[in-house]
Amino acid sequence: MSVAQLTFEGKTIELPVIVGTENEKAIDISTLRDATGLVTMDLGYKNTGATKSAVTFLDGELGILRYRGYPIEELAEKSNFIEVAYLLIYGELPTKAQFDEFTEQIKMHTLVNEDIKKILDGFPATAHPMGVLSSLVCSLTAFYPESVENPTPDNINLNIFRLLAKMPTFVGWAYKKSMGHPVNYPMNRYDYCQNFLHMMFALPVEDFHPDPIVVDALNKLLILHADHEQNCSASTVRMVGSSKASLYSSISAGINALWGPLHGGANQEVIEMLDEIRLMGIDPKDYLEKVKRKEVRLMGFGHRVYKNFDPRAKIIKKACDKILSQLGVNDPILEIAKGLEEAALTDEYFISRKLYPNVDFYSGIIYRALGIPTNMFTVMFALGRLPGWIAQWKELNASKEPIGRPRQIYTGATARDFVSITER
Ligand code: ACO
Repeated sequence: MSVAQLTFEGKTIELPVIVGTENEKAIDISTLRDATGLVTMDLGYKNTGATKSAVTFLDGELGILRYRGYPIEELAEKSNFIEVAYLLIYGELPTKAQFDEFTEQIKMHTLVNEDIKKILDGFPATAHPMGVLSSLVCSLTAFYPESVENPTPDNINLNIFRLLAKMPTFVGWAYKKSMGHPVNYPMNRYDYCQNFLHMMFALPVEDFHPDPIVVDALNKLLILHADHEQNCSASTVRMVGSSKASLYSSISAGINALWGPLHGGANQEVIEMLDEIRLMGIDPKDYLEKVKRKEVRLMGFGHRVYKNFDPRAKIIKKACDKILSQLGVNDPILEIAKGLEEAALTDEYFISRKLYPNVDFYSGIIYRALGIPTNMFTVMFALGRLPGWIAQWKELNASKEPIGRPRQIYTGATARDFVSITER
C-alpha cells in the first residue's frame, strides 16, 4: 500500500493512498484531524472523494462514462431504460426472468393513492413542476410509513418498486395540473416509457397511441441521464440518506438539488437562451462576446468533471439530428445551438477553460420535438436520474458509512460579552 506524507509544524504523518478498480487514487485523510488537529478545505469538493462507490465510473479527461462497467454508448444504443434501472440498482444486467419480474413489480405499483391528488390540487396551476414533484415524492413517506419506521431490505425493495412506478404518474399529473387538464391514470398494458407518454399526453376526448419514434428517443434520453456518480443531487441524496432518512425523503431532497440552474435546471435555461437569441435575432458570435464579458453564462456548456467532452452530449447531438428528421420537426434553434457550439469550440475563452457542451445543451431540443414543454425539462431529467439516485441511496444505506457531517473553518466574531437590548 502506498502512502502520502504530510509535514506540518515539524511533524510528519503518513496517510494511506486508496486505489480504485480503475486505478484512481485518493489520500485517505480519516486520521488527519486526530493526528494533527487540521481539517482540509476544498470548496465545492473539487478534489474531495466523498465515498467509495461501485455504481458509475467516469473519467472526465477521457470522456468515459460507464454504468456498472458498461459504456454509456452501448447502453444508449442497445438497452432500454428499465433494464438500465435494474443494472444501476442491483449491479448486474437482468436475466430475462429478472427483467420480467422487475417490470411486473413496477406495474403492480403504478396506481397512486387518491389522497395524493388532493395534495396536487393544493398547488397553483403556475407551480413549477419540480417543486410539485419533490413534494409528491416526499408525501409517499406518509402513505408508506414503514419506509421510515421499518426499513428492512424487503421494505426498501418494495419502496424502490413503488417509487419507480409512481414517478411517471407524478410527472404526468404535475404537467396535467399546469395545463388545467384532467389527470390520467396509469395504463399497465404499456411499457414504462409508453405509459409515461400516456400519462403526459392522453386526453379523454381522443384515442392515444404512443409513437414508437418518441418511445425510442425517450428511452435513450432517460438512459443517458440515469446516473452520473457523485454530482450535486446524488451527493444530496447520499448526505440526506446518511442520517438514515427514508428513501422517499432522500430522493425528494435530490430532486430539489437537481432543480438549480447550475445543475439539472440548465436544460430549461438552454432553451430559454436559444429562444432569446432567435427572437432577438442575435448573432451567436455576439452572444459569445456577452458570455466572455461574463454578463451571462453559456448555459449547457462546461462541466465540473468533463474537461475534454461530455460523452452524453456527443450521443444526444447525434440523436437530435436523427429524431428531429424522423419526426419531421424543423426547429430553428437547433441551427442556433450548432452555430454557438461551433463558434465556442474555436474561441480561446472556451478552449482555455476547457468548456464543452454538456448533456443539457442538446437534450432540450429533443424534449421540445417530443412535445414536452420547457418548464418540464428538469422534471424529465429527474425521471431519468431516479434509478441512479436509488442506486446511490441503496449503496450508502447498505454501507457502514457514518453520517455526513463536514467541518468548517470558522471566520466569524470571536468570543464577546452579551449586551442587553437597551444598551445597544
Ligand atoms: N459559460 C461561460 N463561462 C463559463 C461557463 C459557462 N457555461 N462555465 C464555466 N465558465 C468559466 C467560469 O466563468 C470560470 O472562468 P474564470 O476562470 O475566468 O473565472 C471558469 O470557466 C471555471 O468555471 P467554474 O464555475 O469555476 O467551473 P465549475 O466546475 O465550478 O462549474 C458548471 C461547472 C457549474 C457546470 C459551469 O460550467 C456552469 O455554470 N455551466 C453552465 C450551467 C450548466 O450547463 N450546468 C449543467 C451542468 S451538467 C449537469 O449538471 C447535468
